[in-house]
Amino acid sequence: MNTTLSIIKPDAVKRNLIGEINTMIEKNKMKIVAQKMILLSINDAQRFYDVHKDRAFFDDLCKYMISGPIVVQVLKGKDIVSNYRKLMGATNPSNADENTIRSKYGLSVEENSVHGSDSKENAKIEIQFFFSSKEIFGD
Ligand code: CMP
Repeated sequence: MNTTLSIIKPDAVKRNLIGEINTMIEKNKMKIVAQKMILLSINDAQRFYDVHKDRAFFDDLCKYMISGPIVVQVLKGKDIVSNYRKLMGATNPSNADENTIRSKYGLSVEENSVHGSDSKENAKIEIQFFFSSKEIFGD
């Protein structure tokens, strides 16, 4: 069992999809062991997405991520990093497999409803970015 960071992004929070996305997570045997709704500052968004700072989409991505509240979560389960990325689907919703979160709810490559860590190492860094150990409840 290990953990990953999930973000329900502003487009999905605005469209009242927190419950539906959480149901997909839970029905796929992943456990939500921490969760909170927050509004990022521009500085937070730039720090979180620092790895993309040289990409053409960086400024728009950061502006979008502060356009409304997000829900940050820690998910626990078997092979959670890869299994959650499978459940999310491809970055661009139009390339995402059927029955993935992004194919069902994503609107565009930017407004793609969810984020999930891309490796165990990044999961650890991203979880620590948002949560203290006191806020995470294993079983
Ligand atoms: P995410 O998994 O949060 O990681 C970086 C994000 O950049 C990605 O999801 C997309 O929402 C966003 N993004 C915006 N434009 C692009 C693009 N052209 N290519 C890849 N990612 C993009």
